[in-house]
Amino acid sequence: MIDYWLGGVHHHPIDVAAAGAFESAYRPCADIFRSLRAFSGRAVRQAVGEGVGQFLVFGAGVPTQANVHETAPGARVLYTDLDPRIVAVGRELLDGLDSVDYALGDVTDPNSIDPAVLDRVLPDRKRQPLGVVLFGLPAFFDDATLAGALDALYDAVPAGSRLLFDFDATELAGHPEALAMMGPAFHMREPAAFAPLLGRWTPTAEGIVPVARWLPDADTPEDVPDAFWGGVAVKQA
Ligand SMILES: C[S@@+](CC[C@H](N)C(=O)[O-])C[C@H]1O[C@@H](n2cnc3c(N)ncnc32)[C@H](O)[C@@H]1O
Repeated sequence: MIDYWLGGVHHHPIDVAAAGAFESAYRPCADIFRSLRAFSGRAVRQAVGEGVGQFLVFGAGVPTQANVHETAPGARVLYTDLDPRIVAVGRELLDGLDSVDYALGDVTDPNSIDPAVLDRVLPDRKRQPLGVVLFGLPAFFDDATLAGALDALYDAVPAGSRLLFDFDATELAGHPEALAMMGPAFHMREPAAFAPLLGRWTPTAEGIVPVARWLPDADTPEDVPDAFWGGVAVKQA
């Protein structure tokens, strides 16, 4: 569905139908996902500018449409996802690319990624700052699970590493039909409730803001609903 909303070609009629059904309850999906992908680009470019040359992406979905390896062409990138079907699609799409791969991984279990793949794609992950990317993931978890996962990731990475994240704010509370489609385990968060979940990760000066307003390229941020907030946080030396 996200690939469809982003104008990609790696989706099926069933995805288009599901996207259409959701849009009938909540219209601005395409604008919101474009804005999210633009935020991803700005956050990844900032990380590269700060010397980050390797990224570990959780809950990556379909790795197309200005995804991390396209935004940071020289970087080493390991995409991961819990869903083996998505991992298979990702591997196919990335086949032949140097320094980029896709593996199974559960963000709530630091040991879930094949260590041989980690060693091959991210050999310096314990020595050099790593970009840890969590886009479109927090809504799957309650606060304790999310805070525990972020804490374990903090321990696993070297100082200078950066956490790039977004999360669903409470926009869909005003759209009950769309909210119902997200199912009972969908966790929206008041923005003020997210910062404490970061634990020892320190947000950068840009703060935790609606993604369109995170270091916008133009003076005027994109005019989209504040459905997703996000930011970048750092593991200090
Ligand atoms: C909403 S999609 C986000 C895709 C992409 N990150 C983006 O923002 O465009 C969420 C993805 O997270 C994956 N996922 C769900 N639970 C997960 C978990 N515990 N660990 C890793 N991935 C998970 C799903 O399979 C799905 O591909």
